[in-house]
Order: sequence, then C-alpha cells, then structure tokens
Amino acid sequence: MKKIIEVKNLTKEYKKVKAVNDLTFEVLEGEILGLLGPNGSGKSTTINCFLSLLNFQKGKIKIFGSDMSPDAYKIKKNIGVVFQDIAVFEELNVYDNIDYFCGLYIKDKQTRKEYIEDAIKLVGLEDFKKFYPKQLSGGLLRRLNIACGIAHKPKLIFLDEPTVAVDPQSRNNILDGIKKLREDGATIIYTTHYMEEVEILCDRVIILDKGNILARGTTDELKKLANIEEKVTIEISDLPKKYLEKIKEFKNVEDITYNNELLVITYKKGKNNLVELLDYLKEEHIKYNKIFSERPTLNDVFLELTGKELRDV
Ligand SMILES: Nc1ncnc2c1ncn2[C@@H]1O[C@H](COP(=O)(O)OP(=O)(O)OP(=O)(O)O)[C@@H](O)[C@H]1O
Ligand SMILES: [Mg+2]
Repeated sequence: MKKIIEVKNLTKEYKKVKAVNDLTFEVLEGEILGLLGPNGSGKSTTINCFLSLLNFQKGKIKIFGSDMSPDAYKIKKNIGVVFQDIAVFEELNVYDNIDYFCGLYIKDKQTRKEYIEDAIKLVGLEDFKKFYPKQLSGGLLRRLNIACGIAHKPKLIFLDEPTVAVDPQSRNNILDGIKKLREDGATIIYTTHYMEEVEILCDRVIILDKGNILARGTTDELKKLANIEEKVTIEISDLPKKYLEKIKEFKNVEDITYNNELLVITYKKGKNNLVELLDYLKEEHIKYNKIFSERPTLNDVFLELTGKELRDV
C-alpha cells in the first residue's frame, strides 16, 4: 500500500521539555491512523512538525513521497488541517467561513460552491448557514471548524482532538463524517485521548506517552498487550472477605478488587470464567445484581504499559 507519510527519528524539544522523542512511523493511503495519548504526550507537536509549522531538532518527514518544508505548496494544497483550537472568523457566517478557507485552494467559483455544500452536509450544518460563530453551540462550532479544514477535499487530513467538549449528538455526527471522508478516499491522522473513539474509528493506533511511542498496531493487536482477556464486573452489596480470598484462587484470575459494592475480576485467559464464578456465588447464596463482562480496553493496555490510567493523566 502507498505510504502517504513517512516520518523518521522525529525529535522536537522545547526549552525544557522533549515533547517528541525519536518517532518513526508511516501512514498508509486510505487509513485512519489514531494518535492516542494523554495531555502533553506530544500529539499536537507531532502534527505541527508534519505541517512544518514548528522547527524540530532531528528527523525527516516525507509527505506524498516528497520532503516536507514550509514552502511546499504542492503538498500543502492536498492537506486539510483541523486544529485543536477553533480557528474561524467571528465576522463571517458559517457559509462565508467555509468559503474563505476553501477559496485558499479552490479558485473556480462553481466547483467551490459544490464543495462548500458538500462540507456543510458532511458536518450537518444545513440549518445554520447564515449563523455567525457566536450564535453556535460548542458542538456546532467544532463542526464548523472541521468543515473549514476539509472543504477543499484534501487527500490527507489532520484532525487534532476534534471532539473535545462536544455534546454526544455532535460527537456522533463528527465521527460519522470522518468515516465518510475515509470512504471518499482520504487518509486521516486523528489525535485523541478518548480511547473509545479510537476503537470505533481507527484502522491502526499509535499510543504516545511523554513523546515516546509506547505501542502500535490495530486495536486487537494492542489489546493482546494488556495481559488480560476478560474483565467481569458484578454488583454485590455485601461480600465478606473470606469469599474474596476464595475467588482469588479461581483459575485464570489475574486480579480482583471489591469497592463501592462492585466486584471486579480480571482474567488472564480462558473460557467459562463467568460460569464458574456464578455457580460459586449461587452455591454460597451470595446475592448479586448487574453483571458486565468485557474484553480489555485500550485503557487496560495503557495501564499495563505505564502503570497509570489513560483517563487520569
Ligand atoms: N510552545 C511550547 N513551549 C514549551 N513547551 C511546549 C510548547 N508546546 C507544547 N509544549 C510541551 O510539549 C509537550 C507536548 O505537548 P503537546 O501539546 O504536543 O501535547 P498533546 O498530546 O497535544 O496534549 P493535549 O492533549 O493537551 O493537546 C508538553 O509537555 C507541553 O507542555
Ligand atoms: Mg494537543
């Protein structure tokens, strides 16, 4: 498959911080690559280096097979960027904002008109064309920010945390829109600290922490690193310690906790873990309410690799 981005040994240091440390990876044509990492892990810095918006100390970046540089207009016109901080003009309405950004690359008026309508449809702003940014909710403003970045139908799109602090409806709308962009052939780099989004959206994921790549692969490949295969959560209002000790001895159990009336058991592997547990609870006449059984999440992977939760950092 064609390589759209090749980055080798990228290192970016600010005065005191090594924001990105020796990153090497590739982005393939047509994929959504997720850069997943907590605050300050280097996601935005990586993107800004790709775009030649930042100088960096070390590394080589090729986009569409050519060296990237600040004046590489031919490369840049095929790139769309949606920055983490919203960047639209307060004095222009929705339609005119998109028109402005699209017009930087698409000079033909008729084509531009069609492209703007496509972008408005993609993010679901049909009813807000004449609205000014101040009149839009946070979620709608994010959608406008996205429309401005992608209206010129770029082949490569960078989306830097496009769903931060948006309502669920806008989030779904944005995620659907991004899938549609991929269906239409775009290659996408998507940064987020929401692991659920990565699972829904991304073909491959790179997990970053403190500027380093911790792991990479498909979500299924990454989950194998978690060292657990199943997580069972059961609501039990009262579970004396002696039973906990017993359950700890069951086969395949990796770890067990009991807090706030929730018993959480992680299993290394195996089948019938839940059946064995329920049989035991029945035998001992222990009453329980809701039961959940889950596969490991990317948070478990992060926890395994760093000893800390992705959510809490
Ligand atoms: N202009 C700057 N000057 C100094 N340090 C910076 C600057 N920008 C970023 N950093 C530092 O570089 C590191 C990486 O920051 P970056 O913004 O790339 O992370 P991020 O993963 O995008 O985080 P977030 O999820 O908060 O957007 C952090 O430690 C940050 O404090
Ligand atoms: Mg960032």
